[in-house]
Amino acid sequence: MTGGAGFIGSEYVRQLLARPDATDSVTVLDALTYSGVEANLEPVRDHPGFSFHRGDTTAATSATPRPWTR
Ligand SMILES: NC(=O)c1ccc[n+]([C@@H]2O[C@H](COP(=O)([O-])OP(=O)(O)OC[C@H]3O[C@@H](n4cnc5c(N)ncnc54)[C@H](O)[C@@H]3O)[C@@H](O)[C@H]2O)c1
Repeated sequence: MTGGAGFIGSEYVRQLLARPDATDSVTVLDALTYSGVEANLEPVRDHPGFSFHRGDTTAATSATPRPWTR
């Protein structure tokens, strides 16, 4: 899910993982621009199927796993 830390994307991710028949996993790729907010994904950060990568879709090969910061 690109842009998954944004307003719409994060709501989509939260809803996907909250479903009783939840999708197995959701991987978010987000550049965390001015509008990307990690806190938007706080409710799912510990979900076993959730992972987050900071990266820019225009340079996707540079995406690297990024641990959560508090
Ligand atoms: N409280 C509110 O009502 C509220 C809050 C925010 C936004 N909005 C509205 O929502 C709409 C926008 O929502 P949205 O979710 O489409 O946009 P957004 O700007 O909220 O999210 C875009 C996401 O994409 C990421 N991103 C941008 N360029 C990227 C790139 N090259 N590679 C990887 N990630 C990248 C950003 O970091 C961000 O997380 C607008 O209509 C806005 O007015 C409403």
